[in-house]
Amino acid sequence: MRFGLSSTGEGATLAIDWPALRAAAQTAARSAYAPYSRLQVGAAGLVQGDSAGGAEGEARIVVGCNVENASFGLTLCAECGLVSALHASGGGTLSAVSVVAGDGAPLVPCGRCRQLLLEAGGPGLLLDAEGGPQEIGSLLPSAFTGTDLAARRDASG
Ligand code: THU
Repeated sequence: MRFGLSSTGEGATLAIDWPALRAAAQTAARSAYAPYSRLQVGAAGLVQGDSAGGAEGEARIVVGCNVENASFGLTLCAECGLVSALHASGGGTLSAVSVVAGDGAPLVPCGRCRQLLLEAGGPGLLLDAEGGPQEIGSLLPSAFTGTDLAARRDASG
């Protein structure tokens, strides 16, 4: 697996082993609890060790799977589990994410999860896709972010 940081003329860049990331997502999908939709989803994210969770330059993978509920609207997408695992394991910034169904093929995150991933990785977060990695920012243009909150918050409150 190539998940380390490597230096190029542009500075430190992350070498992303997409097949390994996708395989980790497929393994996570096997843990899905999806008795209602029967769509097992797994998500795997590559995290730079830029927080308390790891030494500088160290990378790790976090995963999640979907968890459904008899009250359908309470279903948790695989990406929700991934973002929770990110923070529970020390935080940091997601650099690359693969979301797949049980067959191992990439699945496009739903709108809510695009918003979650954008906050956890920024607009430059790379998302696995059939045609090659795509930046999450291109899938959620003009996204609402914490900057909008800070700028528009009611000062009188
Ligand atoms: N699902 C995800 O886990 N992630 C997505 O981005 C889209 C949908 C799950 C939720 C539900 O358990 C199943 O797929 C069918 O919607």
